[in-house]
Amino acid sequence: MIETPALAVVVPTFNEAGNVVELLTRLRAVLDGIAWEVIFVDDDSADGTGQVVCREAQTDGRVRLIRRIGRRGLASAGIEGMLATCAPFVAVIDADLQHDERILPEMLRMLRAEDLDIVVASRHLAGGGIGDWGRERAWASRIATKLARTVLKADLTDPMSGFFMLRRDLLAELAGDLSGIGFKLLLDIFATAPRPLRCRELPYTFRLRMAGESKLDAMVVWEYLYMLLDKSLGRYVPVRFIPFALVGGLGVLVHMVVLWLIFIGMAGGFVLGQTIATLVAMTFNFFVNNLLTYRDRRLRGWQLLRGWISFTLACGLGAVANVGIATYLFHSTPAGGGWWVLSAVAGILVGAVWNYAVTAVYTWNQPRRMGRI
Ligand code: GDD
Ligand code: MN
Repeated sequence: MIETPALAVVVPTFNEAGNVVELLTRLRAVLDGIAWEVIFVDDDSADGTGQVVCREAQTDGRVRLIRRIGRRGLASAGIEGMLATCAPFVAVIDADLQHDERILPEMLRMLRAEDLDIVVASRHLAGGGIGDWGRERAWASRIATKLARTVLKADLTDPMSGFFMLRRDLLAELAGDLSGIGFKLLLDIFATAPRPLRCRELPYTFRLRMAGESKLDAMVVWEYLYMLLDKSLGRYVPVRFIPFALVGGLGVLVHMVVLWLIFIGMAGGFVLGQTIATLVAMTFNFFVNNLLTYRDRRLRGWQLLRGWISFTLACGLGAVANVGIATYLFHSTPAGGGWWVLSAVAGILVGAVWNYAVTAVYTWNQPRRMGRI
């Protein structure tokens, strides 16, 4: 019989081909004596990360690969990797060797011995460090950490850590409620847990990335705020509706400017103005939502055209209702005054809810449960 792994190490990867072999070498050395497996969750990297993992798996059955196509996201990759194992203990670690794999056995020992839910590797505990970080990044990290405390139910020195180990039971319990958005999976786990987690931290020093480059960009900041929003308001509304509504708000501005230009500025008819404004706002909303709200399922290239067409078609009915309701109200309210604004807003509102519900399914192929992976 093949021994069942006690520990699964989940490694989200995106263009990490140059780091896989070295990471495996180090895992083999440090986890000697433990029954373990490693699961790479690769978002179809163009640099051949998946192939490198498969090659390694030819000679080591403990190496596994999940290949995700048309998907992005560190947190959701971590979740899916953890769900793919039945090992009782699961760790998440970066592929680029910035996290110190040498503390893995101690993390496992603590989890087992102290009956904890989770052990977090911390850079901010005595004995740990952030290594050679520029002043800007250290500063940004401090602000993000402060923000994190608003959703956190625990006193963590490093809630932004991407390196931790937990009981699989805990993950199984929370999986259905995690946001799975962006980079900060640990925070997601803590914010989602219905009870304070039994947790300990272990210090380590953040190292320099070995090969390749960081995927942390400006968008990650948006995703972070998005995740915090989800954790505070997500209980009441589907998570994506929040950015969708925000983008919709911007769309209303675009709409009003165009309507004003045509109706007031060019003395075109109200119906013509409202129709053109709806089209322009719709296109604007499609592109911004594709970039922000659905960043993790972003449509590109030709898909973009298909998406725009489906978005426009799906919103077509919404737009008909929009223009119809607005026109009806416009004609049944007194001429002059500000009534035209109210008529337009009513039309937009009906259209917006419809747009969200329909495009979530048809344009971005959103699964039934909103917001999650
Ligand atoms: N599958 C997948 N999909 N993996 C990804 C993606 C993605 O979209 N984006 C990044 N990764 C993988 C990288 O390949 C790497 O293995 C790991 O996630 C971390 O990405 P980096 O780009 O190296 O992030 P970082 O070094 O800036 O930040 C990391 O360390 C911080 C400190 O612990 C992250 O783990 C942060 O969450 C963490 O706060
Ligand atoms: Mn890194």
